[in-house]
This record gives sequence, structure tokens and C-alpha cells, in this order.
Amino acid sequence: MSYHNILLEKENGLAQLTINRPKKLNALNRETLAEIHSAFAELESDEEVKAIIITGSGEKAFVAGADISEFADYNVEEGKDLAAKGQKEVFDRIANFKKPVIAAINGFALGGGLELAMAAHFRIASDNAKMGLPETSLGVIPGYGGTQRLPQLVGKGRAMEMIMTAGMIDAKQALQYGLVNHVTTADELMELATKTAHKIMRNSMVAISRAIEAINANDEDGVNGFEKEVENFGKSFDTEDFKEGTSAFLDKRKADFPNK
Ligand code: COA
Repeated sequence: MSYHNILLEKENGLAQLTINRPKKLNALNRETLAEIHSAFAELESDEEVKAIIITGSGEKAFVAGADISEFADYNVEEGKDLAAKGQKEVFDRIANFKKPVIAAINGFALGGGLELAMAAHFRIASDNAKMGLPETSLGVIPGYGGTQRLPQLVGKGRAMEMIMTAGMIDAKQALQYGLVNHVTTADELMELATKTAHKIMRNSMVAISRAIEAINANDEDGVNGFEKEVENFGKSFDTEDFKEGTSAFLDKRKADFPNK
């Protein structure tokens, strides 16, 4: 499939999805969101792809937010639809994606950009990255999951402050807050993200997708995460990966999972 606003590259089981509107600091307009949605459909069905890195093109921004020019004249219903559709088709889909998704934050991650990074399973940032949810400075609130995912990641008080002040934090503070897992230089960002993805890909992808589901169950209303863990733990015993993983350990050799 061909895309206009994103780049999708695949190599050795790893896909890199780059938001590619550098002149607009990779702001998420409708077309870009639709392309991200399609790309994830493609990545889901592509059995060669085991893990995904999301990043932004250019040296300045990961994603500087939703495209403000597109929603400036929206009414209440249009605003609600924008958030609901975006959450369902893109942000929740990424958060619940069965394959690992890493955000490599290479500059500004603001508003919808930080929400995109927070929808990923974890984040690595370059030392020039700046993160924030500036929506209240525009008279709106975060609409792509930011009011829920930011407190989950950094704690309620810090999220309250970030959203109320509409300010930005730098990579060092994001690391201290636990919003990102690692900070590195801009030059080494993709190398670290790629290395981390390949480390993940050495493990059982079946087990990883069940772990993602169990970890995410913690955030779901009406779902008991401990029960999901018990269920998914039990399911593991019926997989080839489990047989291979345990017998490799007992044979004192490295496991050779079929996902490689
Ligand atoms: N939506 C639409 N366009 C955006 C955008 C967004 N969220 N963020 C940046 N752009 C556009 C700018 O309008 C500008 O376009 P132009 O060259 O056609 O005028 C271009 O991207 C470059 O941005 P600019 O503001 O000139 O860069 P800067 O280095 O001076 O400032 C930012 C960088 C990130 C501080 C600034 O662009 C900004 O505040 N962006 C909006 C962030 C935001 O509020 N996001 C949340 C949206 S809900």
C-alpha cells in the first residue's frame, strides 16, 4: 500500500512507521491518522513483522500534535466524533496491539503527539525531545487518551500539573517522571530503539502478546487483571513456544522460537 504522510519500512522482522509531514512538524491531520490506521491493519496481518517502532521525520519533531487547522471550526458533536474515532481507530488500537510498539521520540511530542507516544507500549527519547499536553492553552482538553494515559504513566499530580500548565517537560524530566524509559542522543535514538526491539524479538512473540494483554487489563474497567494473568499464563502451557523455551533452558541452550 502507498502512503502520503507516513513512511513504512520493514527490515528483519522490524517495522518502522515514520510520521512524515516535517514541514508541519508531523502534525496529525485526518489523512495521516487514516494512514496510521491502515498501516496498523497491514502490520497486524503481516506475519513477517514482529515489532514496530514509531518515530517522526526531520530533526525537530516526533509529532507536534493534532492538526489544529483542521478542528478550529468544529462544533460539539464534531469534536466528540474526532476524539472517539481517533481513540478507537488509532490510539487504543496501538495500545492494545498484539505486537510490541515502541515510540522513538525524536523532538517535540505535544498534544496528540505525546498521546501517540503514550499509546505505544513504551518510549525512548532523544535528549532534545520536549513533551507536553498543551491543549488547555487552546481551550480544549486532550482527546486522544491523554487524560487517562498520562496519569497512569507519571501519576495523577504530575499529570494534573502538566495538563493545567500546558507546559513542556524536557527528556531528562520525562525520564525522571517515568514517561520515557531511556534517553539518548538524537544520533543514537534509532539505534537504541532498534536494538531494544531486536532484544524483545528474541523472546516468544506468543508470550509477549499475551503479556501485553494482561498488562493492559490493569487499565480496563470491569476486567480483573489478575484473572487475565491467570488465564493467559495457563494458555501458555499449550504452545510450541513454551515447549521450546523450557526444553532449551533444561538442555542449557538458547531457545529458538519460530518467530525468528
Ligand atoms: N497543527 C497544525 N500545524 C502545526 C502544528 C499543529 N499541532 N504544530 C506545528 N504546526 C505547523 C506550524 O503552523 C508551522 O506551519 P507554517 O510553516 O505553515 O506556518 C509549522 O508547523 C512549523 O511550526 P512553527 O510553529 O513555525 O515552529 P516553531 O519551532 O516556531 O514552534 C512548536 C514549534 C511545537 C512550539 C509550535 O509549532 C507549536 O506550539 N505547535 C502546536 C503545539 C500544540 O499546541 N499541539 C497540540 C495540538 S492539540
